[in-house]
Amino acid sequence: MTKTSMTLLTLACALALSACGGKAEGEHAAAAEGEHASSSAGLPKGDAAAGREFAAKGGNGAAPCASCHGADGNAPIDGMYPKLGGQYADYIAHSLQAYRNGTRAGATATVMAAQAKGLSDQQIADLAAYYASVTGNLRDLHEAN
Ligand code: HEC
Repeated sequence: MTKTSMTLLTLACALALSACGGKAEGEHAAAAEGEHASSSAGLPKGDAAAGREFAAKGGNGAAPCASCHGADGNAPIDGMYPKLGGQYADYIAHSLQAYRNGTRAGATATVMAAQAKGLSDQQIADLAAYYASVTGNLRDLHEAN
């Protein structure tokens, strides 16, 4: 190998590395941004407006979510129906995936499994984005006796 070709090779490697480094940083930033929208692995980005519409109307075999969880998921019709408004998008998405694939099962979960079994990944992402976007009235029990 001549000295010139060595220099060229070194230059090419340096360029490749910097190009690659730059791209990796960009990809990382994009991934981090996406995570804020929905970091559920494998789910598309959710659309809160589409989720709001689905929650009101239902579809794919699901009754309107609002008919059990109430308006904006904040007014469940009964104590066994959890509040969804203001819940973490990831939690909603993972719960819906688990109901759909049967890993979240049990006597009361069958109600939700029936609602979730026909949901697409996009609908799950949309519903998660919607419920996470509304002002909720969830609270923990740190003030309870
Ligand atoms: C027929 C009533 C009913 C309908 C309709 C319904 N749900 Fe549910 N949902 C329930 C019940 C009951 C539970 C509690 C199930 C359990 O014990 O796991 C639940 C639980 C959930 C949970 C878990 C919440 C938590 O805090 O763990 C999510 C998320 C959820 N529902 C989302 C939805 C969405 C989205 C829709 C509309 C596609 C919907 N539900 C429609 C009755 C319903």
